[in-house]
Amino acid sequence: MIATPIPTHIAIIMDGNGRWAKARGLPRYAGHHAGAEAVSRTVEACCELGVRVLTLYAFSWENWNRSPEEVGDLMGLLDVFLRRELPKLRRHQVRLQAIGRLKELPAAQRATLQEIIAQTASFDRMTLILAISYGGRQEIIDAVRRLAQRVQAGSLQPQEIDEERFSQQLDTAPWPDPDLLIRTSGEQRLSNFLLWQSSYTELYVTATLWPDFSKQDLVAAITDYARRERRFGRTQGGFCEVPSAHTPVLPSSDEAEADSSQDGVGTIR
Ligand code: FPP
Repeated sequence: MIATPIPTHIAIIMDGNGRWAKARGLPRYAGHHAGAEAVSRTVEACCELGVRVLTLYAFSWENWNRSPEEVGDLMGLLDVFLRRELPKLRRHQVRLQAIGRLKELPAAQRATLQEIIAQTASFDRMTLILAISYGGRQEIIDAVRRLAQRVQAGSLQPQEIDEERFSQQLDTAPWPDPDLLIRTSGEQRLSNFLLWQSSYTELYVTATLWPDFSKQDLVAAITDYARRERRFGRTQGGFCEVPSAHTPVLPSSDEAEADSSQDGVGTIR
């Protein structure tokens, strides 16, 4: 039996495809193909375990800087994967969504993505979010630009910008922040993934390379997570799943402005 609570939202940095291939004397694309199989297994395992939202870092903003061959392989794989997975998404009632600067994608991939998103729009057992052409800093910049435009147009006052309003401008606005972020292949960094959203996310790093990631690895991550006490910056308290329940009582924006103009301190972390 798996430990509870099961995280509502799991995010995964799928790393190690290249090393997996290299260890076998195979080209990098073989690692990505094996990685796509791991994606398929993980979606199924998350469904079975009752995870509600799964966000996968499929292609980062920085990945555009890889060789044209590798970018082409990854884009081709995305297309094949999406078409091949559709029956499974249907079977498990999984809704597909995507975040990132999707306008940068080649037209064919964008069309396939839109098609599968539309075909799975009514499913509600789990939401699978693919982060593609995604960067946390880029997402934040895009959100800031949208807010700045509203301020410029006079429909928003600068002092009305708070965490809630800012979050609403992010690609991830419809979903709760991730409870658990898993990174494979032993690297211990966020790599520009969900920077704003992972403020209080529990991190779990496994040495397993992504193509080898199994349901057993997922269960180990969830079991580890279930043992942790999430304090959200407080000194004590039990496990807390509801973000609003840990919202600190902050001074009003006028008071905060007065505070920060004095000494720049006063932020609760
Ligand atoms: C990192 O491995 C992984 C990626 C660049 C992207 C993840 C892609 C997949 C899992 C395959 C396809 C996914 C979908 C959704 C179809 P790496 O190449 O950086 O590995 P390395 O650090 O060992 O070189």
